[in-house]
Amino acid sequence: MKIDIKLKEKSYSVFINELEKIKLDTKVAVVTNPTVSALHVDTLLKLIEARECHVITVPDGEKYKNFETLNYILEECFELRLDRKSVLIALGGGVIGDMTGFAASIYQRGIDFIQVPTTLLAQVDASVGGKTGINNKYGKNLVGTFWQPRRVYCETTFLKTLPKKEFSAGVAEIIKMAVTFDKGFFEWLEKNSLHVEENLQYAIKECIKIKADVVSQDEREEGVRAVLNYGHTFGHVIENETKYSKYLHGEAVAIGMCMANELSFTLGLLSETQLQRVKILLEQYALPVTYDVKSVESFYDMFFLDKKSFNQKIKFILAKNIGGYSIKDDIEKEVLFEVLRNFEC
Ligand SMILES: NC(=O)c1ccc[n+]([C@@H]2O[C@H](COP(=O)([O-])OP(=O)(O)OC[C@H]3O[C@@H](n4cnc5c(N)ncnc54)[C@H](O)[C@@H]3O)[C@@H](O)[C@H]2O)c1
Ligand SMILES: [Zn+2]
Repeated sequence: MKIDIKLKEKSYSVFINELEKIKLDTKVAVVTNPTVSALHVDTLLKLIEARECHVITVPDGEKYKNFETLNYILEECFELRLDRKSVLIALGGGVIGDMTGFAASIYQRGIDFIQVPTTLLAQVDASVGGKTGINNKYGKNLVGTFWQPRRVYCETTFLKTLPKKEFSAGVAEIIKMAVTFDKGFFEWLEKNSLHVEENLQYAIKECIKIKADVVSQDEREEGVRAVLNYGHTFGHVIENETKYSKYLHGEAVAIGMCMANELSFTLGLLSETQLQRVKILLEQYALPVTYDVKSVESFYDMFFLDKKSFNQKIKFILAKNIGGYSIKDDIEKEVLFEVLRNFEC
């Protein structure tokens, strides 16, 4: 199965379960981490035919998604004498994908890279669309580039080794796309388990189609692409408040969607039944759906730390019925306080 991402300049394809060989008449470096390397690098290396093939290993974890690791990748590229025709291959989750893409975008003013995402989150979301980046002390993904991969290979076989929680975190992003873009897909998710391989493949395909469509319309997030941040405005505050240690990103997004849905409900965009249906679906994958807001004031203040609200306007992506969305940046403080009070402990 192949899905094309049509862009003004560099169009490319995402292949689902079609990785047989990667043939490149150039030097190649696979960027990965020790966890993924131990499980899957040998499988990948057997499929690569290149002039030279190297492996660059960086430490595992979001906390290493920083300048130091980026610089390490770049220095390794120089050590290996990669040239402007060389290709980087990202083998890992979103962290590896974002950093490899960033390194590829600036190494000798930009070289090609290929995504081989190994988490569900990366397969359905992070590996497609060309956003690259790293974190710094001011926040997550604040430094980065738009740099599209040459190709993306999503292989569901890699997901078999994924811890259960990581799998569920990916499901949260799948549900996110269904709620805001596709009612039929949401209803399908209510009836079909993603623990069944063929269902999982179908869901990955649907998400990539949604993402392909969104990114083709709005490569640089000037409009509709922001809808992919549904659940993220609340989710980022939760990640921040819990110091990125209590919840995986997808888990925080699951709670964030429930909070955003309360706001939709207050504004009359979503019915009580629709709100419950989203919650029930998230719970089926053991995703958290509630959160104890300790202080409504400080939760509110933290919205403004988000990079998307530098101009002091917070942008909320809200579900409008199931399968639709509404973007609002004029929500009254009092309305938000009322919603947050529902979560106060
Ligand atoms: N570029 C984008 O558009 C975009 C979109 C969404 C998220 N992201 C970024 O993606 C990152 C999150 O990605 P993630 O959830 O994949 O996290 P991750 O990359 O940290 O991977 C999660 C964990 O799973 C391990 N792992 C990966 N594949 C495995 C496998 N097959 N078997 C066993 N373990 C495996 C990793 O080593 C890691 O410990 C964040 O940094 C986020 O900012 C980017
Ligand atoms: Zn996300």
